[in-house]
Amino acid sequence: MRTDPVLEVHLPEDHAARSLAADARRGLAATPKSLPPKWFYDARGSELFEQITRLPEYYPTRAEREILAARATEIATVTGAHTLVELGSGSSEKTRLLLDALRAGGTLAQVVVLDVSESALRDASRALGAEYPQAQVTGVVGDFTEHLGLLPGEPARLVAFLGGTIGNLLPDERAKFLASVREVLKPGEWLLLGTDLVKDPATLIRAYDDAAGVTAEFNRNVLHVLNRELGADFAVDSFDHVSHWNPDAEWIEMRLRSTVSQRVHIEALVLDVEFAAGEEMLTEVSAKFRRPGVTEELAAAGFALTHWWTDAEDRFALSLARAD
Ligand code: SAH
Ligand code: AVI
Repeated sequence: MRTDPVLEVHLPEDHAARSLAADARRGLAATPKSLPPKWFYDARGSELFEQITRLPEYYPTRAEREILAARATEIATVTGAHTLVELGSGSSEKTRLLLDALRAGGTLAQVVVLDVSESALRDASRALGAEYPQAQVTGVVGDFTEHLGLLPGEPARLVAFLGGTIGNLLPDERAKFLASVREVLKPGEWLLLGTDLVKDPATLIRAYDDAAGVTAEFNRNVLHVLNRELGADFAVDSFDHVSHWNPDAEWIEMRLRSTVSQRVHIEALVLDVEFAAGEEMLTEVSAKFRRPGVTEELAAAGFALTHWWTDAEDRFALSLARAD
């Protein structure tokens, strides 16, 4: 018997203020300056990301959806999952393909969606509750780098981490994250991991610098968040969006370039920060992967890769891995 969707908030009320303050203090003092990408996702940032997924230049969402459409039944059969746990779930739009397959297979009992963006999570868990009345839906407002230990859900569980969001973590953060996912799973439970693949730089750079300027707005949104949450006075329009391919690290870097020499005051930090004209601040890395690297990183965390699927154009991969 289903009950209505539950929303659990694992972030303290002052999370944005305190954790963002610590991240901003650290990142703005560094050379080069940087900010962690999770702060893009207030309600406006989540909505801008949804717009990005529909842009002609941004292929990852379409490519991953193509793989899920082709493989969801196989994933449901192999895993026989009772609980689908989705991390960084956003709108959970593609996730419906998995849920439909698990429902058709007769195993779906619970859905747990976790995201740092409360607005996105509220909408998604309400919609999932209505669409999957046979399942208990729980939305968890939390940080997937910190709050996995508190996740509800009965075995057999399938943890889905889609969209290539793992690429937004730095290599050491990725290793820590995968190990923490492995820690909450029992041997024989499953991880489904979406990774964008290395490809020609022009396609990649375009995917992060669309003609309509939506990605630029998404990038600059972090400055709106700092202005609102920390009483900063960033002149948002004085920062240009930059999409840069780093061939050594094999990741896209999104940066914000100050077009003028300027001083920004951040009230909550009692701090003034100087930007030189042309100075760039790193706001996101989006790593692109190859099969051997994914296999190795999974193995190092205690997962055995059992299936590797790509879209027809080999742009994006879905890995299914079993907890050893
Ligand atoms: N999985 C969806 C959304 C990807 S966008 C898809 O494939 O389309 C990345 C999502 O991860 C956003 O919803 C963002 O709010 C969330 N997110 C980013 N960093 C996070 C963190 N540290 N903890 C929890 N959620 C995070
Ligand atoms: C959520 N994440 C996988 C996106 C990406 O492609 O790295 C975020 C994004 N940044 C710019 N466009 C989309």
